[in-house]
Amino acid sequence: MNAVATEPLSLSVSDLSVSIGGSRILRGVSLDIRPKTVFCLMGRNGVGKTTTLKAITGLMPADNGNIHLAGTDLSRLSADKRALAGIGFVPQGREIFPQLTVEENLYVGTVARGRKPKKEEIDRIFTLFPIIKEFLPRKGGMLSGGQQQQLAIGRALLTNPKLLILDEPTEGIQPNIIDQIGDAIKMLREEGKMAILLVEQYLDFCKELGDDFTILERGRVAATGPMTDLSEELIKEFLTV
Ligand SMILES: Nc1ncnc2c1ncn2[C@@H]1O[C@H](COP(=O)(O)OP(=O)(O)O)[C@@H](O)[C@H]1O
Ligand SMILES: [Mg+2]
Repeated sequence: MNAVATEPLSLSVSDLSVSIGGSRILRGVSLDIRPKTVFCLMGRNGVGKTTTLKAITGLMPADNGNIHLAGTDLSRLSADKRALAGIGFVPQGREIFPQLTVEENLYVGTVARGRKPKKEEIDRIFTLFPIIKEFLPRKGGMLSGGQQQQLAIGRALLTNPKLLILDEPTEGIQPNIIDQIGDAIKMLREEGKMAILLVEQYLDFCKELGDDFTILERGRVAATGPMTDLSEELIKEFLTV
């Protein structure tokens, strides 16, 4: 017998099905995310990427399927319990609070847990995104779209997630901030404290950052594998418009 314990997958989703208003949106989606990796969930508009993320986070009920985070079954837990178990979610369109200050926005997730973040945890966010430190007293709504995206990522990171989920973080954002977000993802990957599930339509961003990919097409998995297997044929068939 080999005594070496294998580390469980960071996220394992099996046979996930979701309906909205009586129509099936996801039809048996399965994903396996290895520890300390960046996993890209890809596909054209409307194929079910956001729905997959919402079912994983518990924001949308599933008809069927199992979700395990680092070996723990989350399938029947509420969204709050899943967040506490270690899922950090940055939704599409960011959803920061425009009337709260940057500082208040940053601590929303940790305050809800009755825990004050440690100084080194806050400094880590400032290292990843210096603009957050600079703009702490400003209202969230005064930041540019890209700065709000950085704030939303910082807020999720302060909860120390085991899995960080990002839904189209580059959508509508200026190129220099896209680069900064890409660098932050690289840094987090190198730190090796979490896995990252990235939904992204910006192909070069995925290719540069992703270890593995899955492509969805009409609510099903069309292709999956290491990023090196993402061929021109797959890109043409499932990704370009
Ligand atoms: N709240 C909703 N009500 C009705 N249909 C929805 C709703 N949310 C998503 N859908 C439909 O589900 C499908 C998948 O949507 P979504 O998961 O947002 O796709 P993606 O993120 O890949 O662009 C789309 O056809 C969309 O029209
Ligand atoms: Mg979406």
